[in-house]
Amino acid sequence: MKRKNFFKSLRFQLLFISVFLLSCSSGLKIGETCSKDGECDSGLRCEKCDANGNTRSRCTRIQPLHPTSKVKGLPFNQYSWLTTHNSFAMSGAKSATGSVLVSATNQDDSVTSQLTNGVRGLMLDMYDFNNDIWLCHSFGGKCYNFTSFQPAVNVLKEIRVFLEANPSEIITIFIEDYVTSTQGLTKVFKAAGLDKYLFPLSRMPKNGGDWPTVDDMAQKNQRLVVFTSKSSKEGSEGIAYEWNYVVENQYGNGGMKTGSCPNRAESSPMNTKTKSLVLQNYFPDNPNVTFVCVDNSAPLASMTKTCYEAAGKRWPNFIAVDFYQKSDGGGAPEAVDIANGHLTCGCDNIAYCKANATFGTCDVPKISPPPPAAASTTTSENPSSMASLDSRPVHLQCLSGIILATTLSLWL
Ligand SMILES: *[C@@H]1O[C@H](CO)[C@@H](O)[C@H](O)[C@H]1NC(C)=O
Ligand SMILES: *[C@@H]1O[C@H](CO)[C@@H](O)[C@H](O)[C@H]1NC(C)=O
Ligand SMILES: *[C@@H]1O[C@H](CO)[C@@H](O)[C@H](O)[C@H]1NC(C)=O
Repeated sequence: MKRKNFFKSLRFQLLFISVFLLSCSSGLKIGETCSKDGECDSGLRCEKCDANGNTRSRCTRIQPLHPTSKVKGLPFNQYSWLTTHNSFAMSGAKSATGSVLVSATNQDDSVTSQLTNGVRGLMLDMYDFNNDIWLCHSFGGKCYNFTSFQPAVNVLKEIRVFLEANPSEIITIFIEDYVTSTQGLTKVFKAAGLDKYLFPLSRMPKNGGDWPTVDDMAQKNQRLVVFTSKSSKEGSEGIAYEWNYVVENQYGNGGMKTGSCPNRAESSPMNTKTKSLVLQNYFPDNPNVTFVCVDNSAPLASMTKTCYEAAGKRWPNFIAVDFYQKSDGGGAPEAVDIANGHLTCGCDNIAYCKANATFGTCDVPKISPPPPAAASTTTSENPSSMASLDSRPVHLQCLSGIILATTLSLWL
């Protein structure tokens, strides 16, 4: 090889190698060992679950598959939506009053971040406070400086921005309602610019019928469904009283007893089919940040089946958890995928739905057994059925890319 050609070839070599190195850095796949969030592909976070003996940090799912990604255009009540309990109570938050905040926190990220990750149900506790409506995690029906997070309008504006930017998305808000000021809720939704998105009370089915389709809701721009826990608001403000439309199981520790799924006190029995929507709560009385990765995994999946039976063989439309990003595998996103599989196409997971197939025709991938989750083992595993979509270690892809590039450039 002549000297000039050698340098030309070296240049090519470097070019090819850098191109492939760049594509390598796109991120680690699900189940792969990681040391920080940024290393994982989008939709994944670097998590471990010590409480379950999983001491190896691995890229873990934090997003469900989009409910309408496989079967589109069904009635709203034929999908399941990932829901966050106390969505506003973010770890590390400070009270907007400047006071010390003593309330427990239930999530790790902002409502905007939750929406980006596919959360579509939000549980918000609203109080009269400081001549306004505030989000507080309080007690005795009253908000204090030290239990107050921020004015509700701030978070409602985050929701408006998301609805504006995503014209086919639908969001449901469950208000734990301590507001007694006249037209308080109406005013705060209007102040946030959300009034134009409200799904009207008059279109909510009252006798167990189907809801309008998601396409219809999007086309009419009625993409914000709001429920209140105060019955009087239905008459006074036209805001739906939740228990007229939804059944809910017991929340807190009482809802986490294996094998039973009782309704919460305010709700009709779970199998009341005149209520078209089913909400499944699964979180303890006190948020437990170390144990939640266990709760959100196998026990949640198991309770989802129990509640399905209790609800008269109805899969939940909303699955509400603490720290929705924490799990020891597929977590709450996987539970929602399972519900959506059954609801939308009759398969065990929405990932198995086939486009335009008849109900119950499924495409179940072959799964190789996962390696152990403990530290110092292999780099790749299948924590959930989803992982089989691409569980090849990324390093191998990089290596073969580099070899290919080197060979090619030498040849050139
Ligand atoms: C609560 O916070 C406000 C500031 O938003 C302050 O003016 C007020 O004094 C505080 N109240 C108490 C009881 O600390
Ligand atoms: C979290 O849950 C575990 C297991 O139930 C329990 O041992 C621990 O005390 C809980 N921690 C808190 C802070 O509640
Ligand atoms: C499914 O049906 C829709 C509407 O009939 C069509 O636009 C789409 O291409 C079909 N998808 C597949 C994968 O056959």
